[in-house]
Amino acid sequence: MMTFQGSHILSVSQFDRDAIAKILTVSAQMMPYAARKKRCYVLDGAILSNLFFEPSTRTRVSFGTAFNLLGGFVRETVGEENSSLSKGESLFDTAQVISGYSDVIAMRHPKMHSVSEFAQGSTVPVINGGDGANEHPTQALLDLFTIQSEMAKFDKGLDGLNIVLMGDLKHGRTVHSLSKLLSLYHKVKITMVSPKALQMPDAVVSTLTNAGHEVIITDTMAGNLACDVIYQTRIQQERFASKGEADLYRGHFSLNRNIYRKYCRENTVIMHPLPRDSRPEANELDTDLNDLENLAIFRQAQNGVLVRMALFALTLGVEDQLSQYEKPVNWYSNK
Ligand code: CP
Repeated sequence: MMTFQGSHILSVSQFDRDAIAKILTVSAQMMPYAARKKRCYVLDGAILSNLFFEPSTRTRVSFGTAFNLLGGFVRETVGEENSSLSKGESLFDTAQVISGYSDVIAMRHPKMHSVSEFAQGSTVPVINGGDGANEHPTQALLDLFTIQSEMAKFDKGLDGLNIVLMGDLKHGRTVHSLSKLLSLYHKVKITMVSPKALQMPDAVVSTLTNAGHEVIITDTMAGNLACDVIYQTRIQQERFASKGEADLYRGHFSLNRNIYRKYCRENTVIMHPLPRDSRPEANELDTDLNDLENLAIFRQAQNGVLVRMALFALTLGVEDQLSQYEKPVNWYSNK
């Protein structure tokens, strides 16, 4: 199994099943702290630099929250225009400087492989919070944690999973990373529903087929959504040459209650990395699904805190010391 302490987390390709099992186990141990039932201060005094050079709500805030929940401090930079990258400073130089201020760095950047380039200049672990259309490894880990938790309700696991990935599979980095992780399990059936122009990259499909999994590629919802999990994605407008080009594909694969009832199974779990595009022309995951118990999207987002706490504990080598650094909480909490 990989050594976590001191390692960068850049791609899901660095994990084997044992490493993933370790991350998911430590994530589950974070539940009482994430729910604020107990405080943990195992990272007291440590500093996270949270560098987000591309918009984010969940990933940025949950990285910061995760670090705070382990007792650490968070410094943030948001937007390339507010950093000296806009003055021509290289990623390498930025990494040399910021790693001098920090114990760990989380970073999102619009350019593919930029976080790896940055990591080469860093003296502390760097965690990829999304690099262009390439990867979003922490999202894939929280997705896997969510699938495992949701499937456990039906006495199912990750092996034998029947999952549908739907939407912009070409540009959606979350589905790239999740597919690679799923390739490590046994007998997974993956149906990829997208417009022809937005199909999953061949390299990702090959990773799955080479591992012996069943992959169906289609541009039709009818007859293809009877699955354990349907994972919807947004049209990634920021990866298109223009809004007009992205508009060509909006609204083609909207999931609503009617479609769900017609084509999904009674217990199909609905996931989405969020944000969902709720504008009428897109409406990719209709709000008429909001009261379905199987809509897991907000539980999924919550799980991001657990997984990111686990990654901080593992990369900073404190995963076995959590209980030694606990305190009770003394405020009202309805968690
Ligand atoms: N899922 C996700 O990456 O969301 P944000 O873009 O809001 O971080």
